[in-house]
Amino acid sequence: MNKEIIEKIKTDFYEELRGIQNSNELLRLKTKFIGRKDGLITSLLNDFKNLSIEQKREFGNLISTLKLEIESKISLTENLLNEAGLKRNDLTVAASTPDVGRLHPVSQFQKKLEEVFIGLGFDVELAPEIDTEFYNFDSLNMPDTHPARDSQDTFYLDLETPKNVRHNQDERMLLRTQISNMQVRYMQEHEPPFSIVVPGRVYRNEALDASHEHSYQYMEGVLVGDNINFAEMAWTLDYALKAIFGPEVKTKLLPSFFPFVEPGAELAISCLLCHGKGCSVCKQTGWVEILGCGMVHKEVFRHAGYPEGKYKGFAFGFGISRLVLMKYAIPDIRMLAENDLRFLSQF
Ligand code: DAH
Repeated sequence: MNKEIIEKIKTDFYEELRGIQNSNELLRLKTKFIGRKDGLITSLLNDFKNLSIEQKREFGNLISTLKLEIESKISLTENLLNEAGLKRNDLTVAASTPDVGRLHPVSQFQKKLEEVFIGLGFDVELAPEIDTEFYNFDSLNMPDTHPARDSQDTFYLDLETPKNVRHNQDERMLLRTQISNMQVRYMQEHEPPFSIVVPGRVYRNEALDASHEHSYQYMEGVLVGDNINFAEMAWTLDYALKAIFGPEVKTKLLPSFFPFVEPGAELAISCLLCHGKGCSVCKQTGWVEILGCGMVHKEVFRHAGYPEGKYKGFAFGFGISRLVLMKYAIPDIRMLAENDLRFLSQF
């Protein structure tokens, strides 16, 4: 026995290991090198007893270290081959499903709404979240004295209103409280006929509780043309809501007031949870008011710069977050903003 023989076994082993393709070949390699009967290492160890004490000292360690090394390389390769083989061949092993994430339920719902309105010929537009008092209030026939303008209800910003957008000396900037802020800006830039929906966030200076948030997702629409009437508005909204919630949903209009529409209305749908029978969500009435709407007020058209009496149109606005709460009977609006995956992964 000499050192070279041991070294040679080692290099041979690694060379052969590199060519291994499957577990049969590996088994053959294992038998050849460390097989119990006549594996190369095993025969070295069998010869061991014939060696002198000096040789035993010299080679003992070398051989047992090499044996351990070979054993561990073989079991490592065995594992690798098993893993690859399982993936390739065993159809009963469950595929691993990557965690791909998903859209927030409010975004999912918003997409659905956009698709329905696009189907009706509406364009989807965006409008600024930071805006002037003029677009958020004055242009919508909401004068200085209107209660919604109070800082208890509105987030005013500590920003100077740029001169080129200022309508008067004291005009303040704010976080829009309604997406109706898009109406006059869009009208100033576009000649009717047009029909748009604008999704986005609105901000209100609210005390927070289960049904009040300081910001939430909203959608507002406006359609302007030559001879648009109230019945067309009623049909459009009924069609859109049936497309979203299903054909069994009923709608009804109730008289209401918003400064920027005349006449104004509120639209109620039959309760999605009890289907009109009466439950806690609809306060036992069978109906839930979900949306404000009406015929665009002539003051709004005046601010847009349209000739008096030339156009007619309707506008509507509703909270997307609120519809999601209702559809899934979610008890607390704050859950939509918490980003708790245990909640979000249900949608
Ligand atoms: N802007 C109103 C709000 O935020 C909702 C609304 C009511 C929009 C009536 C409209 C409308 O366009 O006609 O409460």
